[in-house]
Order: sequence, then structure tokens, then C-alpha cells
Amino acid sequence: MASELEAPAKEVPPAADPNVPATHPSKQTVDPWNVAGEVGEDGKVKAIDYNKLVEEFGTKLIDKEILERFERVTGHKPHRFLRRQIVFSERDLGVILDRYEKGEPFFLYTGRGPSSDSMHIGHTQIFDFCKWLQDVFDVPLVIMLTDDEKFLFSEKRTVEEVIGYSRDNCRDIISIGFDPNKTFIFSDYEFMGGAFYKNVTRFAKLVTYNQAKATFGFDESSNIGKIHFTSIQGATAFATTFPHIFGDDEKKVASIPCLIPCAIDQDPYFRLTRDCAARLKYAKPSLIHSRFLDALQGPGSKMSASIDSSAIFMKDTPKQIKDKINKYAFSGGQVSAEEQREKGGNPDIDVSYQYLQFFLENDEELAKIGQDYREGKLLTGELKAICIKHLQEYVAAFQERRSKATDETVKLFMSVRPLKWGGNPRAQRI
Ligand code: TRP
Repeated sequence: MASELEAPAKEVPPAADPNVPATHPSKQTVDPWNVAGEVGEDGKVKAIDYNKLVEEFGTKLIDKEILERFERVTGHKPHRFLRRQIVFSERDLGVILDRYEKGEPFFLYTGRGPSSDSMHIGHTQIFDFCKWLQDVFDVPLVIMLTDDEKFLFSEKRTVEEVIGYSRDNCRDIISIGFDPNKTFIFSDYEFMGGAFYKNVTRFAKLVTYNQAKATFGFDESSNIGKIHFTSIQGATAFATTFPHIFGDDEKKVASIPCLIPCAIDQDPYFRLTRDCAARLKYAKPSLIHSRFLDALQGPGSKMSASIDSSAIFMKDTPKQIKDKINKYAFSGGQVSAEEQREKGGNPDIDVSYQYLQFFLENDEELAKIGQDYREGKLLTGELKAICIKHLQEYVAAFQERRSKATDETVKLFMSVRPLKWGGNPRAQRI
């Protein structure tokens, strides 16, 4: 399947900083380290063109047909992220639905790069979606904390620092509400060895420097840890990496695939992984890709854990949330109330409306807000107030759960242990 590796080689440009306006036209960049929209002739950053990414990466848009099948097979109405194309693209999702239908085993795999001690709503929203998938499918979920990646790819961070972030982030992730019977969270530094390391080296042996360079844009001065890291993120997609979950019978376990919910920027890792899987006679991972939650500054940028004004953090107080939305949230409205009433606003570029698309469960309510805004019946301040209220509720509920997650809970989720799942009669045990 050489075709999956044919995505064009990319240069790795400097990190996108939403606070620094670009001054010259440049192409859209989406790779594991940079997400930035195209800069037009007018110097403005455009929204990310997701259809173009599907074409470039060779993935498939999630269409009505597969959503109907999803509903038929699982008996669940698709999650609002699926209904609204927030999770918009896939690779072999059909294979997972086939297996679910037949009661054949599979698992879920996702991850997080612990780059700081606090997570923002963009991160937790994707984890909420993973929890929903876990509840629907009733299968094991492994969550990888790539502390090693965050060490290798940063100038400043120390090993000790990133290990600390893994623990903090684990506590945040637990607070989403994952079931400890079905969820294994691990730090690369802690879990490396044994079956995991065997698969890491099997992977590493198949990938040449040229391939890594073509996929990720590395060059001769990139440190060798970066070049090797893809084997670590990739090997986690193989069921044989987790004998404590799936057992030691490598032959049998090798055929168990995973479904990886991830943001589209992670796709290059898994293109390589799917190619390696085929060559190792392991099941190929399936993927579903999400778009990004825009930074407060507007479309074309993504929230950054290291820029406080770019995001709403799960640690923020109700007042901080209110102030950030009122002060920074990019508005698609007109400059004055009169003008807004007369001409209406543009919800498609309005950050408060974008956030409501992520949060608001009720489709009709959302559509009405969008329409009222477009028609000038709803003013920017009113739209912001609705957004603030939902954000405050979401963050407060999270903080309440987090206050109950102890060091003991963190230890439990991160301990190497068998998992229990399969209460749902359609999802069988292995
Ligand atoms: N590299 C990802 C990051 O920096 C973390 C990650 C590892 C991941 N494995 C994953 C994300 C699988 C999604 C799915 O955030």
C-alpha cells in the first residue's frame, strides 16, 4: 500500500503564533507541530481548509452514509461532533463497524502530548468525544502520554518537568469521567520496555530516514530522537503492545485493530503506522479525524497550551472565562449594535458561535442562534453571553470532578493491569 506514503514532503516552518500577524502570503500548514491557515494577499489568516486536507492526506470525508450505518449498527444517534463535521474525516471506519457488528474485538487509542500542566477546552472536548465512543462501543481505551515527545521536541523542557506534566494531565483526563475498568493511561517514560519496546523496534526497523524526512520534514540537523519518535507513537496502535490487556497469544492478538480518534494533524504518524502494520502482519489501525477548536483570536489558528490568551483553560475561574471571551473572542458581528441589527453578523467566523457548535447539544437551539445572529436579531454581546454561560458551566463541572480525582486514582489508571469490558452483549471479550 505504498500510496498511503505518498503525501508530499513538507518543510517544517516556524511555529504558528496567533499573536503574531503574518505579513506575507503563505500556504496553509498542518502537521504535528504547526497548524496555521493560509495568509491571503490582505495579510489576514484564513480558516483552515479541511476539504483540502482530506485530499492532500488521502483520507475520506465522513458522509451521511457512514453516519447512517453507525447509527444502525450501534443503535446510537451520532455524537454532535459527527453530526456537525467537527469529526469530519476517516480511514477504514467501516472496518471497525464491521467488527462491532460481528462482536469481534477492537480497541480505542488516543493520546496527548503533555506540554504544560494545564489542559484547555480544545483538549477536553476531544477526550469527551473519546469517552462517548468508549461508552458506545464498550471496548478498552489506551491513552498515551507522550512526555518523551514533549522533551525531544522542545528546547527548554527537562525530563522531570514533562513527567510531572504527565501526572497532572492524567488527572485532568480522568476527570473527563473515564471508566477505570476499561481505560489504561500511560506515560511513555514509565511504560517503555517489554512488549511495547519490542514493537517500537519492529516499527523502527521498517522506517528509513528518508521516509521519516518525507513524512515529517526533518532534516540533517534534526535530533535523532525526533526521527525515532514516530516508532513510539506508531507501536501503540498494535494490540500486542498491551499483553496485560489482550493476553500473550501474539498470533491471535496481532489481528485486533484499533480505532484512533485524533486531530487531523496527527495523521502523518498513522499513515506510516498503517504501512508498517501491513508489513508486520498486524491489523491496520482505523482513524477518525477532528478539526481544531479555533483559538480565541479566530479561524486559522489553534488554541495553544502555552499562550494564555489563546484559549479557555480548565483551570480558569468563571471571571477569567467571562473576561477572555469578552476581550479576545473574535467576533463576526458588526462594529455597532445599529449596524448589527441592520446587516446581521457572520456566525461562520465568529469564535463564540464556533465554540457553541462544540458545546451545545441541541441542534435546533444552535441553528436558531446562528440564524438570529445572521439576521441581526442577536447582538455580539448577547451571543458572547450565551457562550460564556455554557463555558462556565462546562468548566465548573469539570473542576468539581477533578477535585475528587486523587493521587490514588491517578495511580490506578496508570497501573499495568488487566482491564474488564464487554458488559454490552454486542461487544465480546476476546
Ligand atoms: N503526538 C500527540 C500530541 O502531541 C499525542 C499522541 C500520541 C496522540 N498518540 C496519539 C494523539 C494518538 C492522538 C492519537 O498531542
